Amino acid sequence: MKISIIVFSPSGHTLKVSQLFKQEFEKKDIKVQLINITKNQNYLYSNNMKQYLEEELEEHDVILIGGPVYAGHVEKSILRLIEQLPEAGGKHGCLAVPFVTYGGVHSSIALEEMGRYLKRKNRKSILSVKIAAEHTLTKTLSNVINEKKPGQFEEKIIADAVERIAKITGGDYEKIKDESKSFLYSGLPERILFNAFSQEFFHKKFKEVSIDTQKCIKCKKCISVCPVNMFDYSDDIVKMVLDKKECILCAECYHKCPVNAINYPYIEVARKRLKDGYIELEKEQSAIYPKE
Ligand SMILES: Cc1cc2nc3c(=O)[nH]c(=O)nc-3n(C[C@H](O)[C@H](O)[C@H](O)COP(=O)(O)O)c2cc1C
Ligand code: SF4
Ligand code: SF4
Repeated sequence: MKISIIVFSPSGHTLKVSQLFKQEFEKKDIKVQLINITKNQNYLYSNNMKQYLEEELEEHDVILIGGPVYAGHVEKSILRLIEQLPEAGGKHGCLAVPFVTYGGVHSSIALEEMGRYLKRKNRKSILSVKIAAEHTLTKTLSNVINEKKPGQFEEKIIADAVERIAKITGGDYEKIKDESKSFLYSGLPERILFNAFSQEFFHKKFKEVSIDTQKCIKCKKCISVCPVNMFDYSDDIVKMVLDKKECILCAECYHKCPVNAINYPYIEVARKRLKDGYIELEKEQSAIYPKE
């Protein structure tokens, strides 16, 4: 069996999870290709994403695709990527495993929509995995939700998922079913809300990140951490070079700027929405669907 993993990970948690997946597969002598599309121009803006995927994706039986949950959805770069996947068949197997990391508050319809998009590309989702991770928007709030996660418990879930994938693919391929119906685990009102309103709907009016040039010491940290390459250095200043709508509000520039020169007004909205980090969390924090 061969595996390909594609991941988008602005703050690194989903990348960590994909590396854990890779390690677990490799313990079983299963070959894994890992493609990280974070900061990768070829995948984020290019109209030729399909062509890059055709060229870069190696032969695989199962494709794992992972990203973070943003506003109850999987971050939209991942949905775009699924839409651009090469047709299943030949060297691109038809089995898929969507996975997300989330801040423990609500993973809502993230896996559900990934399953739906994968189905449209003729991929059967054999299972899906949600992993609770540090809620990156709570780093500076009174309570950091899921600080230091993913940890040992989540590592066990990933190891279990790999066992299950190996078992499923070790059987009769013809009998393998699409299990995406089991990803509809959120309550109905929540599912209706998030299916009606996109990630963009919740975030677009807050895309107002800017640099305070009086404070900026031109360390270029924001250039290196922005997952969608909003910043650049030219004419001896660091500036934002893309349209504000391209910002995904990940807050990496805000958290990593050493002199507080990034204005990130969304943090106040997040503080209120997340009750300073004391919000009620999703019942089952990390899980594999379908349940055994
Ligand atoms: C803009 C934004 C929106 C988020 N929305 C949610 C959410 O709706 N539910 C949740 O539980 N966590 C949410 N999170 C937390 C992330 O899903 C979580 O920290 C995830 O592990 C980040 O993945 P990464 O480290 O791979 O970027 C959000 C984070 C950001 C920055
Ligand atoms: S991280 Fe802050 S100080 Fe460094 S270049 Fe960016 S805005 Fe300026
Ligand atoms: S500008 Fe800042 S908040 Fe927006 S995507 Fe880049 S790092 Fe994230």
